[in-house]
Amino acid sequence: MPGLLERYRDFLPITDKTPALSLHEGSTPLIHAPALSKLLDIELFLKYEGLNPTGSFKDRGMVMAVAKAVEDGADTVICASTGNTSAAAAAYAARSGLRCIVLIPDGNIALGKLAQAVAYGAQIVAINGNFDDALSLVQQISREHPIALVNSVNPYRLQGQKTAAFEIVDELGAAPDILALPVGNAGNISAYWMGFREYRTRGITDTLPRMWGFQAAGAAPLARGLERVDNPETLATAIRIGAPASAHLARAAVSESGGLFDMATDDEIMDAYFQIAREGVFCEPASATPVAGLLKLHAAGKLKPGSRVVAVLTGNGLKDPNNAMRNMAAPVAVKADMESVLATIL
Ligand code: F0G
Repeated sequence: MPGLLERYRDFLPITDKTPALSLHEGSTPLIHAPALSKLLDIELFLKYEGLNPTGSFKDRGMVMAVAKAVEDGADTVICASTGNTSAAAAAYAARSGLRCIVLIPDGNIALGKLAQAVAYGAQIVAINGNFDDALSLVQQISREHPIALVNSVNPYRLQGQKTAAFEIVDELGAAPDILALPVGNAGNISAYWMGFREYRTRGITDTLPRMWGFQAAGAAPLARGLERVDNPETLATAIRIGAPASAHLARAAVSESGGLFDMATDDEIMDAYFQIAREGVFCEPASATPVAGLLKLHAAGKLKPGSRVVAVLTGNGLKDPNNAMRNMAAPVAVKADMESVLATIL
């Protein structure tokens, strides 16, 4: 498959001057989840965004945002990030020969994501604050200096990210009944809603899904109906965000689609994380949040039997090895002889 700028060219703000940037992002698999479908009494598909080139959905928006930055003559890009945005920005900047600066919350970014930003050659600034602090700093820097901001407040990011909705409709032949996804800074839910609506306007789908956005309980301003949460806390560090920049768009997506916001505790998130892994699919903790939410709503009798649901698994499990291992039994160490191995496995 070609990259997104080529595959969905007619739907994207591409001109003759937009570079043909691609790391073969997008075209990720929609994986049926038989065990969870049975448990939830629905037809559940997992949109496995962890198979993008840098291991998260951020590549969709970043290929568009960096291509436009190049088109506009930028030589430096900047972003705040809980990790995945920085990995994607660093990769596409490296590919385009741009300098990349990332601000991250010190101590609250998964190891794999940090390793990616380092390897792709970004300049990393770990601030003594959270994502919300980092975002306001980079917004100010980009206003006052000739540096392109590539957070999802950059509208090209949402343009690129809406292509995930296109892929789901292209594959299922229609929109699902429900689209469930994790919500942090609230760009992705807004981008999906834009994508589904655009496909309907163009007559490619007649129906639209209900948008179900799930937050971590310790970082859930939208689910709690608040403007912001001051000290967001969750082990799902990707969505450890207290003041979502696209809250207004996300609220519109939920209300226009007849959807909902809800939240899951860290324990519920990790329980869902293992249930997804037992289907053979490994995602990072934040990505398990929508499945945790579906399990919760099913238990409350709020999930209509037989619904066709797509849960977006936004990032790859390999990005966050520490969280995986913290919650797993360590392997049993035995002597390297047949007797000891057999005694353990039989
Ligand atoms: N899932 C993962 C794995 C993420 O990395 C993010 C956001 C989200 C869900 C939430 O998406 O912000 O569009 O609502 N990560 C950003 C980052 C904040 O810096 O990588 P959102």
